[in-house]
Amino acid sequence: MDVVIVGGGAIGLSIAWRSKERGLDVAVIDESFGHGASWAAAGMLAPVTEVHYGEEAVLQINLESSRRYPRFAADLTAASGRDVGYRQSGTLIVAPDGDDFAALNELFAFQCRLGLDARALKPSEARSLEPALAPSIRGAFFVEGDHHVDNRLLVGALEEACRRTGVELIEDRVEEMVTTGDRVTGVRLGDGRSMEARTVVLAAGSWSGRIAGIPERARPPVRPVKGQLLYLKGSESSPLLSRNVRGLDVYIVPRADGRIAVGATVEEKEFDTTVTADAVYTLLRDAYELIPGLRELELLEMVVGFRPGSPDNAPMLGPSTVDGLVIATGHYRNGILLAPVTADEIAHLLATGETSATIAPFTPTRFSATGVAS
Ligand code: GLY
Repeated sequence: MDVVIVGGGAIGLSIAWRSKERGLDVAVIDESFGHGASWAAAGMLAPVTEVHYGEEAVLQINLESSRRYPRFAADLTAASGRDVGYRQSGTLIVAPDGDDFAALNELFAFQCRLGLDARALKPSEARSLEPALAPSIRGAFFVEGDHHVDNRLLVGALEEACRRTGVELIEDRVEEMVTTGDRVTGVRLGDGRSMEARTVVLAAGSWSGRIAGIPERARPPVRPVKGQLLYLKGSESSPLLSRNVRGLDVYIVPRADGRIAVGATVEEKEFDTTVTADAVYTLLRDAYELIPGLRELELLEMVVGFRPGSPDNAPMLGPSTVDGLVIATGHYRNGILLAPVTADEIAHLLATGETSATIAPFTPTRFSATGVAS
């Protein structure tokens, strides 16, 4: 086998699909394809509205991946025969009161300093774009380039594209990584089988640092950052919203079938899967302030996911310090957004041995084995 990928979420599957397109023999291993962080995500493709102070380096690769999304979605639909719910409808960021309006104005000034495309709107202008917004909102900004995709359709389509193109999908856990001398040479599976590979790609999200047998100096310092998100059932024929609407601490993402995702908490609680009353209360309270009509909708689902965070919250992409092991993890809040650029650039690395300038700043070797940035 040329490549064995550990982890079958949006990142692992998209790397597999793009690598197979380049003629490599590829297998992906996961206990439950697409049901980790990719399942719990909201599918926002929002490099501008999700920009955080101090994370400007990540912004550039986020913007690059956002530019690649139209082609990625079209190629994937062609390869899988499935729509992935990619909608270029922009994002409204809304202040329900004066305090949030002051904070949003600061964020807007920061976005403008970074040269990003955001436009201030009067409340009446925002409400003409989204009539379900509360009449009392204080102000809003429109970001035309921040879109969304249906992350669950996306991972389903990626799995199908992999299947159709001949990627081997193995439903099992990885017991350990196998090394020979100084080199990673394969993996041992839960059923006891061993698989040899020229390169192993570690794309197991929050679990990437926990697999047995990874040489300590190459073990990626990933931590799980818990997120709780809920789904409401809206109407498919007369949707309440036509684009992402968000405030400072909540985002609301409509799906084509009428469901509405409301997210998300950000909690440093290891792998705690508890759904808390406080999360349900806080998410709904903040969402109602923006869209009062959400109160009428059925609560369909609560979901918990674990964002893979690195010490600097930027992804780790490229060769590790150990031969035969490539790392593609640490995507934190941006895994769905970063799938196209990660897939293209890691497939390029696997096919040519070259690390592109796009991912060079995100080398996993920037962290020592102790997880402290060197
Ligand atoms: N990108 C959204 C989140 O991580 O909650």
